[in-house]
Amino acid sequence: MDPGVTFSDELARAVARRRTFAIISHPDAGKTTLTEKLLLYGGAIHLAGAVKARRAQRHAVSDWMQLEQERGISVTSSVLQFGFAGYQVNLLDTPGHEDFSEDTYRTLVAADSAVMLLDNRKGVEGRTRQLFDVCKRRRTPIFTFVNKCDRAGEDPLKLISDVEADLGIACHPITWPVFRDGVFSGVYDRRLGEVHLFERDGEHGAREAIVRVASLEDSRLRDVLGERSHALLVHDIQLLDAAGHPFDADAVDAGALTPVFFGSALTNFGVEPFLREFLALAPPPRARESSAGPVEPTDPLFSGFVFKIQANMDPKHRDRIAFVRVCSGRFVADMQVRHVRSGRMMRLAHPQQFLARERSGIEEAWPGDVIGVLDRGNLRIGDTLSESGDFEFAGIPRFAPEHFARAIPADPLRRKQFDTGLRELTEEGAAQVFYGETGGAPMPIVGTVGMLQFDVMQFRLEHEYGAPCRFERMTYRFPRWVTGSREDIERVATGRGRMRLYDIKGNPLILFEDAWHLQRALQQDTGVTFHEVAP
Ligand code: G4P
Repeated sequence: MDPGVTFSDELARAVARRRTFAIISHPDAGKTTLTEKLLLYGGAIHLAGAVKARRAQRHAVSDWMQLEQERGISVTSSVLQFGFAGYQVNLLDTPGHEDFSEDTYRTLVAADSAVMLLDNRKGVEGRTRQLFDVCKRRRTPIFTFVNKCDRAGEDPLKLISDVEADLGIACHPITWPVFRDGVFSGVYDRRLGEVHLFERDGEHGAREAIVRVASLEDSRLRDVLGERSHALLVHDIQLLDAAGHPFDADAVDAGALTPVFFGSALTNFGVEPFLREFLALAPPPRARESSAGPVEPTDPLFSGFVFKIQANMDPKHRDRIAFVRVCSGRFVADMQVRHVRSGRMMRLAHPQQFLARERSGIEEAWPGDVIGVLDRGNLRIGDTLSESGDFEFAGIPRFAPEHFARAIPADPLRRKQFDTGLRELTEEGAAQVFYGETGGAPMPIVGTVGMLQFDVMQFRLEHEYGAPCRFERMTYRFPRWVTGSREDIERVATGRGRMRLYDIKGNPLILFEDAWHLQRALQQDTGVTFHEVAP
């Protein structure tokens, strides 16, 4: 360190440079492609291929399992770290396809902002909406990238008004698509007053696109675009200036207004202007709520929380990797920290950083970074690790499962292993376990956010715990936790199209057969209170 630079200067500088975000999108919107391009800009070119390799295995469960095993570390959620324009960027990668799970939701808790990626033909889709809701509840700043502009899509003005109507968030386009005879040719940057015109290169946009800059009034631009296309652009921009939402940094910070960018990840059009402006506007790590009030990232003592636990898939080792988001101070390898829930001191040995398919040892990490620490079964999701040891971060919210199945052990003599497996996998956050009302040793019911989790659990129960089982899908899908008097709960639970369960803490919840039964209960059964997640 520079002799004139104090630790608090160094910490403040590290915090100011950090940008930690996740991309939220519906499958096929282009998340893999965009991630790859961001990595290219970040100079991590060799990693782009690794991201692509993941695409190949996204559909086949068996391949996925194989890969997990061979590598001994998850590819389903890793942290991609790269530098760009003086920023240290942490892109928290979330599974985007069938292997969607509660992990995806939890990863958003560890991010400081989110990039919502939309297909220019489809706008807001189902998965986008689900993930957006999680961000909105947490008031996470959201930036929007409208992708695939290289091919004809929805009219941009209509697209943003649909986003506003659908999600209830104000849109402020920062870049706007420029068309030449109806063909996407670049973007106009409203903040900088620049037009970025692109030229395709022969390599399918694999290299940085060539950019020429002019102002909107530049007569050259009229020549390049032609009279009609130029007039259309000027019209759109005037309309946005007059009738659109003005830029408001506070509203962005509160998640009430989303800056919008247009481009094409595939051809690289608009990706660089997006990255540049996004990093300038996105928040650095902020204070996080804890039991002792907000903890500032510039607090000199290290603190962080576990947001994900991943079992090492090598069956010979029971070690797990806990993903810790650093919230304050500096983390250094081998440091002693307090595990606040148990009150015990822990040495964080062999910390790792995750770069797509590789992990590498690290010596230090700063607020906004994510480190992976070896865990021998002591850590749980939501746990706080800190040097001071006298506070806990506000809990990671639980999310309501969307699919339910009865888990039936194939071999009754392996019941103990089966129960242990279910318990450990639940602690890891792979799924939630519920029990019905029958006495004796009730058959557990497993609830997941994504369908693939059933296959993953079945595989792991058999291979890691020697407890093969099968899952019997249930038709009930809509869970609501219910509070109120015993009699009221009893009455409500026994209606038609309903099924009562208990979570592992013994809280009652009701599953509904369909949305209609759920709606009816919400309207008519006013004697009890329904909750979307465990109260
Ligand atoms: P995902 O991770 O969000 O699921 O999406 P992914 O990047 O895998 O992209 C889904 C499909 O959309 C891919 O086509 C990809 O090439 C295409 N795509 C991504 N960005 C753009 C874009 O800016 N413009 C256009 N026109 N297409 C885009 P595919 O045919 O399914 O796969 P592939 O054969 O290209 O790998």
